[in-house]
Amino acid sequence: MPHVVVLTGAGISAESGISTFRDNNGLWASHRLEDVATPEAWERDPEGVLAFYNERRREVRRAQPNAAHEALARLEQHNCRVSIVTQNIDDLHERAGSRDVLHLHGDIGKARSSVDPRLLYRLRGEETIEIGHMCDHNYQLRPHVVWFGEQVLLYDTACHIMADADWVLVIGTSLSVMPAAALLDEAPAHVTRMVIDPDAVALARGTDAIPMAGKASEIVPELVEHFIAHRVFEQPARGQ
Ligand code: APR
Repeated sequence: MPHVVVLTGAGISAESGISTFRDNNGLWASHRLEDVATPEAWERDPEGVLAFYNERRREVRRAQPNAAHEALARLEQHNCRVSIVTQNIDDLHERAGSRDVLHLHGDIGKARSSVDPRLLYRLRGEETIEIGHMCDHNYQLRPHVVWFGEQVLLYDTACHIMADADWVLVIGTSLSVMPAAALLDEAPAHVTRMVIDPDAVALARGTDAIPMAGKASEIVPELVEHFIAHRVFEQPARGQ
């Protein structure tokens, strides 16, 4: 089956009420990432870091998948394999019904040991992470999120997925964070890439990607309906 790989960022969840990072009203406009999203911040002020991510978690629990998430889930029903590689820590892709979702930067619905990243704990309901919540080895729990300066453990897996792509969609990411942004170079050169973002023209400049400027919840459903109606994904990809 044709393999569609979708790289998503905060922009796909913006219309679900989840803050992006670098837009005017983004999180990094009201918070210094050095204070909440680095191992040094965790050493310095674990209460502050936990408070930041507990609020992020409340924001995600209040949110619902939007038409863009739902359209990607619908595509799986139409003779193509859809792999979502997301930088988002929300679960809106899964809640929309997408079955193949890889979270590059972690999952806000989980806590992890502050000493052993393999020790993960699913958070239930309104549960938050507080000082004194310990792992099985009796170390403080922290959010299961990749902070700046930390290794992206699933990057190699994401590279393999991208290398197997027949089509690449890039939705709602400023492509300003490495190594996630470098993933596009892992897709075979002949593969069609489309960038869906209000800033798509600028983001696609200097590449052979097709810019589609606008909001994800408007463009993605239309694109998916078009692809399904014209069986686009069943035709040989460019250069095959
Ligand atoms: N539809 C589509 N795209 C949108 C929408 C929308 N409704 N609203 C905003 N965008 C776009 C913006 O134009 C921007 O290009 O989404 C992108 C959001 O960019 P960032 O805020 O930089 O988010 P992201 O690219 O996901 O950040 C990457 O940086 O802070 C870290 O770990 C964090 O995973 C995150 C990573």
